[in-house]
Amino acid sequence: MSHSRGQVRAFRGAYVTYQGNPLADDQAFVYESDGLVVVSEGLIIAVGPATAELPDLPPSVPIQRLKSHQLMVAGFVDCHVHYPQTQIMGAYGEQLLDWLNQYTFVAEQQFAHPEHANKVAQFFLDECLRNGTTTASVFCTVHPQSVDAFFRAATARNMRMIAGKVLMDRHAPDALLDSAQRGYDESKALINQWHNKGRNAYAITPRFAPTSTPDQLAAAGALWQEQPDCLVQSHVAENPSEIDWALSLFPDCRNYLDIYDRFGLLGKRAIYGHGIWLSDAERMRCHETGTALAHCPTSNGFLGSGLFDAHKTQSGDHPVTIGLGTDVGAGTSFSMFQTLNEAYKVAQLNGHAMSSIQAFYLATLGGAKALGIEGQVGSLSVGKEADFLVLNMAATPLMRFRMQTVEDIEEALFVLMTLADDRAVEKVYVAGCLANQDLNAAKN
Ligand code: GUN
Ligand code: ZN
Repeated sequence: MSHSRGQVRAFRGAYVTYQGNPLADDQAFVYESDGLVVVSEGLIIAVGPATAELPDLPPSVPIQRLKSHQLMVAGFVDCHVHYPQTQIMGAYGEQLLDWLNQYTFVAEQQFAHPEHANKVAQFFLDECLRNGTTTASVFCTVHPQSVDAFFRAATARNMRMIAGKVLMDRHAPDALLDSAQRGYDESKALINQWHNKGRNAYAITPRFAPTSTPDQLAAAGALWQEQPDCLVQSHVAENPSEIDWALSLFPDCRNYLDIYDRFGLLGKRAIYGHGIWLSDAERMRCHETGTALAHCPTSNGFLGSGLFDAHKTQSGDHPVTIGLGTDVGAGTSFSMFQTLNEAYKVAQLNGHAMSSIQAFYLATLGGAKALGIEGQVGSLSVGKEADFLVLNMAATPLMRFRMQTVEDIEEALFVLMTLADDRAVEKVYVAGCLANQDLNAAKN
């Protein structure tokens, strides 16, 4: 860390932030071409137009001035990602169920070894930081030591992270199975150890209905009742064969989402990956219960899963809260820019464009809201934790060239989400401290 946490510092330059969902509120989007963000003790203590904020700033406070091609935004929020799958990104040729068996369940077995878990957790979090992702909701493996390694590495970086031990008691290799009781006990012990310790939060994590018995889903629901401020994360309605399989295993359930509903696993702070093939009735139930969905477009394209309709899901009389997930390792990029790039293309194929203002909302405050942590992170607002980025909008020759002809911030953001990647993430501040120094050298 290059400075003490307590020191007051100010950043003067352009910023973009949100005060709400731009779909519901046309005042939600905020752009200041000359803004001031003031940080102390890891929190944002003032933010606004520089002309309004400067008179209140004590003269002793150092001010960093951004350049004209730089832009401050809140740190990105990745609502659905698997750290143990970092090493199987780009595994060729299969759709979900074969991909799980051929690649995922093989890679996840290595996390029985704490050294391996430790190495991958460190790499994963550094890669998140390099890409400007300061918060993520993360699947570990069935091994408690995979969760310990992850939270230890997150704590060392002081990142706001959500994670949980995967629960699986059937339909996976023996080495990856727990049991209903063991999964419950191990999750409970991990909650006691990590939940709300520093910036860590625990998510009860049944992998998906087909790999849990009814007993295990019941135990997961019971644990959530005992620990209601934990999150729940899982997968739903990603792939047609998966859906058929899930329904065949739970023949009494009306639909896929109903499986989770019956075991008390829907509600606020529950977030399900994908939801591509949910019916109107299932979306309605997400709306009623406050259950969120994580849209994972790079993964959905990579596994040939389908086109999630973000517009339909978020609009109408029964909107569902959504966030964005990279879903690494089925996802093909750690970059939220590239995730937005794909989200835009998927939206086009569904017959609706996604505006850049909506897109950056989903990558920041919308994601935080989907995870129930919008009180802590997701925007440049007084009282929030100072997780923010300085983007370089001219990071590549093409971006620099293209930015010369953009006419307004909306267009500039759209070029960013189309052309940018980790090279555009110049500085990453985590709780007010610069966190991406020395991360750009390739490591083995
Ligand atoms: N469904 C169950 N497990 C997984 C997983 O690891 N990745 C994806 N994309 N879908 C899943
Ligand atoms: Zn996933």
